[in-house]
Amino acid sequence: MANEEKQPFTVGSKSFTAVAINTAAKAGEWIKSKLGDFSSLNIKTSPQDLVTEVDKGSEQMIRNLILTHFPHHSFLGEEGVEPGAAASIQALEEASEAEYLWIVDPVDGTTNFVHGFPFFSVSIALAYKGEVVVGVVYDPNRDELFVAEKGKGAYVHGRRMQVDRAEKLSDSLVATGFPPDRSTALRSNMKGLEAMVPQVRNIRSGGSAALHLAYVAAGRLSGFWEVGLNAWDMAAGTLLVQESGGKVTDTQGRPYHLGVRHVVASNGSVHDEMIHVLKEAGGTGE
Ligand code: IPD
Ligand code: CA
Ligand code: CA
Repeated sequence: MANEEKQPFTVGSKSFTAVAINTAAKAGEWIKSKLGDFSSLNIKTSPQDLVTEVDKGSEQMIRNLILTHFPHHSFLGEEGVEPGAAASIQALEEASEAEYLWIVDPVDGTTNFVHGFPFFSVSIALAYKGEVVVGVVYDPNRDELFVAEKGKGAYVHGRRMQVDRAEKLSDSLVATGFPPDRSTALRSNMKGLEAMVPQVRNIRSGGSAALHLAYVAAGRLSGFWEVGLNAWDMAAGTLLVQESGGKVTDTQGRPYHLGVRHVVASNGSVHDEMIHVLKEAGGTGE
């Protein structure tokens, strides 16, 4: 291991990254304490699209903490946007002029949270002029904090992350997910799934896109794809993957940007193979 990889990651107080870390940790601990103890379960667009008072409370806490430190920054959080793809696209467009934009998913993996399945996270990203410069994903169940700064690498438990070395899909553990949109996204994801399963070592679908991306960064997965995600599901995780030596594009292979909704993230080596499989199967969502 290179010398720099042994160095623990340190941040100055009140830096953007320090605030993102403290905020994600605080919100995550609170969410964990509410597991099995929420009172209002509401359905958004479909029985697959859930929200609880914990999602809303977490977002409120994150917003307050961030804006206390950086009152002139803009904030885009899932719970401040009407449900559905059209509203998310519009909200992102409206926020696109912001110089500093925080992009937040207060609970990524709400279905898991509701069912007591301990795989969910808090995802906090900061974009500067449309480019993600800080990404933090916190898993309170495993007490794992994944953090990346643009150009400075990505870290978990203070150790630098590196994507895995699989060269072929046949040696790869790959993840995907199933967004609540049952009309279009589900169809694409099912086509992709059917084509991908025979090509890979195995597939996982844990139910938190942000954690799937963090796991690609940490070398626990070789790839992840999903059709129909929103900016807040991915913004932080994409920087984790890039800063760990991996690659993030849309399902056509074009470079990632905040407006991407159909994503492929990988260790780089299996990227083209994943895109090829999805294209051949009609599973790109386009
Ligand atoms: C969901 C999770 C899930 C993914 C869905 C997302 P939410 O986010 O990331 O893994 O498959 O597409 O909507 O609703 O739990 O924040
Ligand atoms: Ca989400
Ligand atoms: Ca969420």
